[in-house]
Amino acid sequence: MVDVIIVAAGSGKRMGYDINKAFIEIDSKPILAYTIEHFYQHKRIDNITIAIRKEDETIVKALLDKYGYRDITLVYGGKERQDSIKNCLDTLGKSNIVMIHDAARPFINSNIIDQSIDLTEKYEATCLGVPIKDTVKVVDQSNTVKSTPDRSTLWSAQTPQTFKYDLLISAYNKAFSENISATDDSSLVESLGYNVKMIMGSYQNIKITTPEDLKYAQFLIESSKK
Ligand code: CTP
Ligand code: MG
Repeated sequence: MVDVIIVAAGSGKRMGYDINKAFIEIDSKPILAYTIEHFYQHKRIDNITIAIRKEDETIVKALLDKYGYRDITLVYGGKERQDSIKNCLDTLGKSNIVMIHDAARPFINSNIIDQSIDLTEKYEATCLGVPIKDTVKVVDQSNTVKSTPDRSTLWSAQTPQTFKYDLLISAYNKAFSENISATDDSSLVESLGYNVKMIMGSYQNIKITTPEDLKYAQFLIESSKK
């Protein structure tokens, strides 16, 4: 049993639109519809749960209807991404593998989904990512550079991040009982002391975050049609 949780309950503040960025259309199709499609069409995904904001419920239901996505569970999200995922986990039945994916990453592909499932069977916890291209600086509050970590050890984390169900539930239970907050799910599993295996993602698997990302997204959609 493979579950996917797609988190779409943010507001897309950095995008600066008056709608949640998940509903911005690229080539007349909402970002969220592209994202769902990759999992909906994938033979190894058994169940899809989407975290949404209450105020977006009507628009999400209309989207699911329009694109013919059936049997998807909608769950109200929470204040932070982590709260949205917790709410979804609370509604899942016992599963084997749970993938967590950002609605704002519509350029995931089926090979990566396969790899994530295969390697999670083997390693229990996997994080998708890519080696960083820029040199990273650690900076203090006065913008003074404090250190320069060795770039060859640094990766940018992407989603999906995929876990054995029991492990993920333990990590979330610990996080909520000990007030640990993190911007990704892998960190919560790491804090349990588990090894998380990094999987090579794709530089095209961007998280659409600011308006300039939309131009590149448009380009990727057009290229995929050729
Ligand atoms: N997300 C969520 N619940 C929240 C916050 C974020 O489900 N309370 C989801 C977003 O919908 C998004 C994903 O987590 O698909 C990644 O977060 P991010 O890119 O930060 O999206 P937003 O929080 O919507 O954007 P911003 O931070 O610019 O407001
Ligand atoms: Mg956010």
